[in-house]
Amino acid sequence: MRFDRSIKIAPSILSADFANFGQEIQAIEAQGADWVHIDVMDGHFVPNLTFGPPAVKAFRPHVKTVMDVHLMIAPVDPYIQAYADAGADVLTAHVEAGPHTHRTLQAIRAAGMKAGVALNPGTSAEAVEHLLDLTDLVCVMTVNPGFGGQKFIDMTAKIRRLRELIGDRPVHIEIDGGVDPTTAPLVAAAGADVLVAGSAVFKGGSVSNSAVYGDNIRAVRAAAESAVN
Ligand code: DX5
Ligand code: ZN
Repeated sequence: MRFDRSIKIAPSILSADFANFGQEIQAIEAQGADWVHIDVMDGHFVPNLTFGPPAVKAFRPHVKTVMDVHLMIAPVDPYIQAYADAGADVLTAHVEAGPHTHRTLQAIRAAGMKAGVALNPGTSAEAVEHLLDLTDLVCVMTVNPGFGGQKFIDMTAKIRRLRELIGDRPVHIEIDGGVDPTTAPLVAAAGADVLVAGSAVFKGGSVSNSAVYGDNIRAVRAAAESAVN
């Protein structure tokens, strides 16, 4: 994974057909997805349940780009090796998931993955200030985590502050929640480069009508790029 700040679209398979993940992943990659975003929920840190390590391992052979695994679980540390073995490229933990995020990020890197740290809407940018040298990606949640299809919460001031704190470190800013062609320009202008989009990518399409995914991905990308170029 080479670092750059170009706009990357990361469809969340939370909005895919749950009976058909292999083909859904192949379809979004064929239609221009840069990364594949996988939302792991534990029914404890967030009020929903999704994918354990065996499911993520089953997705792995279908992902030719970057497998971006977003852990919405607490605790995190007992599961880091399992998600490494499942083949995650980026593993992101929430700063709110426990008192020792510093240790968690060290452990994620030691297991051979890129280390991400996510911030709930109520958490300030400064919560990760002293973690940035251990971090490859900061995920700014623009919804309260747990479900796809929620309304975007404006976090542009936080994104700008993070850009300042990050400086010239090779750290991605990822935005997760309510990203669509209307909101993408706001977050891109503020300094985000990885845009997660679930409902905005999958809406209206299917594996047998996957050109719609391509149209949806291009619409988000064009809107974001228009704000930075
Ligand atoms: C929310 C998840 C998101 C979600 C995004 O808890 O982390 O990745 O799937 O879905 P949309 O784009 O529909 O808001
Ligand atoms: Zn996510």
